[in-house]
Amino acid sequence: SAIAAPLPATTSAPATVADGPAKNGKLANLSDYDDPPLFSPSLISEEVVSRLPEGYTIRPLRRSDYYGGFLPTLRVLTTVGEPTLTEFNARYDFISSRNDTYYILVICDETSTVVGTGAVIVERKFIHNMGLVGHIEDIAVAKNQQGKKLGLRIIQALDAVAERVGCYKSILDCSEANEGFYVKCGFKRAGLEMAHYY
Ligand code: ACO
Repeated sequence: SAIAAPLPATTSAPATVADGPAKNGKLANLSDYDDPPLFSPSLISEEVVSRLPEGYTIRPLRRSDYYGGFLPTLRVLTTVGEPTLTEFNARYDFISSRNDTYYILVICDETSTVVGTGAVIVERKFIHNMGLVGHIEDIAVAKNQQGKKLGLRIIQALDAVAERVGCYKSILDCSEANEGFYVKCGFKRAGLEMAHYY
């Protein structure tokens, strides 16, 4: 994968994270200007922030999350592949251009490594008085971080985002094995998932 020259330490240029360095797997000293959050951090529930383990943080995804724990965390959930920086950035830019629809957040541990992630995608309907529905997707917590209520915090944070942007409900599909987790997060079984793979 293409890892180009380091970014300048200053923030005088527009976002150039696309060409940013991977220093020990992380990007150093990037400001919000260089590497803006996918969506407004004000949508993240203060209550959820206050309940995270000491030293942990929760924030919107950023372009620089190509480096670090985001993709390894998603691999706990399913096959991810090995996206190049160019492929990742192209998908990030698409999502970012629709950031009133895609809300992806991450939880980081005390070393700022991503150890959890989740998304809510906001569907705009004609029914239910132009209703908005949140679709919760791609919830994952790194194996060695499971059982610390990080999954619960991710769902609570996504629920709060969905409510704040005006959704009247959020829905998700999961395996039977995860039903108990989602029940603990306040969800209840409703309907049946069906799929048609291409
Ligand atoms: N079944 C029943 N209860 C569970 C399960 C489960 N599979 N997993 C967690 N719980 C319970 C916990 O014991 C805890 O209960 P408590 O409050 O009584 O102590 C509560 O749910 C909250 O658990 P967390 O600690 O927040 O769970 P964790 O951080 O480990 O995250 C998760 C759970 C996201 C399912 C994690 O195990 C994971 O990443 N699994 C692999 C990927 C995956 O399956 N993701 C979900 C796919 S479905 C979707 O994306 C819509």
